[in-house]
Amino acid sequence: MKGGEGRKTPIQSGNLPPAEADGKAHTAAVEAGAEPSRGILDPGLRGAEDEKESALRPKRLSEFLGQDRLKENLSIFIRAARERGEALDHVFLLGPPGLGKTTLAGILSWELGVDFKVTSAPALEKPKDLAGILTTVTERTVFFIDEIHRLKPAIEEMLYIAMEDFELDWIIGQGPAARTVRIPLPPFTLVGATTKAGMVSSPLVSRFGISLRFGFYEVREIILILNRSATILGMDLSPGAASLLAASSRGTPRVANRLLRRMRDFAQVFGKGRVTEAVVKEGLERLEVDRYGLERHDRDILRSVIEKYGGGPVGAETLAISVGESVETLEDYCEPYLIQAGFLQRTPRGRMAAPLAYEHLGYRTGNADERLLF
Ligand SMILES: Nc1ncnc2c1ncn2[C@@H]1O[C@H](COP(=O)(O)OP(=O)(O)OP(=O)(O)O)[C@@H](O)[C@H]1O
Ligand SMILES: [Mg+2]
Repeated sequence: MKGGEGRKTPIQSGNLPPAEADGKAHTAAVEAGAEPSRGILDPGLRGAEDEKESALRPKRLSEFLGQDRLKENLSIFIRAARERGEALDHVFLLGPPGLGKTTLAGILSWELGVDFKVTSAPALEKPKDLAGILTTVTERTVFFIDEIHRLKPAIEEMLYIAMEDFELDWIIGQGPAARTVRIPLPPFTLVGATTKAGMVSSPLVSRFGISLRFGFYEVREIILILNRSATILGMDLSPGAASLLAASSRGTPRVANRLLRRMRDFAQVFGKGRVTEAVVKEGLERLEVDRYGLERHDRDILRSVIEKYGGGPVGAETLAISVGESVETLEDYCEPYLIQAGFLQRTPRGRMAAPLAYEHLGYRTGNADERLLF
C-alpha cells in the first residue's frame, strides 16, 4: 500500500500554479498514449489512428454498446445526481485496455451536462500540476485521471483531501515563515481509471463511491459495435463478416474497430469495397490474426511456455524475458485475454499453458515434444 492514511499532510511546494494550467496539455499527454503494448493494441498504431478513433468513440450512454449491467447502474446514478443538482460521486473504472474506460468518462460528462477535464497520472509530476487543474475545476466538473495507479504519493495525498473535503492544501513560503492555506474547491466528480486494480492503494480506492469493473465484451456485443462503426465509416459489412471479425476481436472494442478498418482496406484493394466473409478470412490471415483473435505475439508467448518451460509454471519475469517483452506489457496487454479465453492459467507458482493452448497450437495435450504435423 502506498500513500497511507496520513491525508492531512500539506503539499510542500512553492506558489500556487497559474490557473491557465488547464487540462489541455494533459489531454495531449494522454492522447500520446504512454502505455507500452504490442500488435493491434500498439501505441504507435494508436497515435496514427487517434483521429479516426475519435469519430467512432460514443459520446452518449445510448451509443455505448454492451456492458448492460454497468450501464444500467450508471444511468440510475447519473439521473439521481442530476435530479438533486449535485456532483456525481467519484467513479473508479477498472479493466483491461481498450474496453471503453476513457470513452465512458467522456460520456459521464456529456450525460451530466458538465465540463470534462482529462489528465493521466504520469503527466502529473509535481503537486502543482494537480493543483493547476483542480483550481480550474468548475461546479460538478468530471475530472478524469487515467492510469491512476501511477500517481506519486504526494499527489495522491493532495487528491485525498480534494476528493473528500473539496479543498486544496497549499504551503506558502518556506522554513519557519511557511504557512498553509486551504483553498475551497467546487464539488466535482473524479473519475479514475486503471488497468491494474491491485496497484491502487486502498485509501484511494475507498474514496471512490462508485466502482465499475469492465469485463471483455461478448461476441454479440462486439457485433453491435462493429455494425455501428461500419455505419459511421460508410462501410458495407456483411453479417457473416461481422460475426467472423467479432470472434477475432478479443472481446475488445478497440481491437474490433482496428480490424474493421484494416478489412476496409483489404476490401477496397482486393475486392469491390464490400467487406464479406471471404475478405475477412483473407484479411485476418494476412494480419496473422487467428480465429480466437490471437496474434503471432500471443502464440509466441504460449509456445514459449509450452516448449521452453514444459507448459509451466513459469514466472512472469522469466516468461517476459523469453519473449522479449516487459513484464508490464505482458501482464497488462497480453495476459488478460489469454487468461480469460482459457489459453493461459495464472497460478501462485507462475503461468501455465492450458489444454486449449496445446490444442489450438497443434500440440498433443500436455506434451510439447509430440507436436502434431498438419
Ligand atoms: N461500449 C462501446 N461501444 C462502442 N464503442 C466502444 C465501446 N467501448 C469502447 N469503444 C470504442 O473503443 C475505443 C477504445 O475505448 P477506450 O479508449 O475508451 O478504452 P480504454 O478502456 O480507455 O482503454 P485504455 O485502458 O487503453 O486507455 C473507443 O475509441 C471507442 O471507439
Ligand atoms: Mg483510456
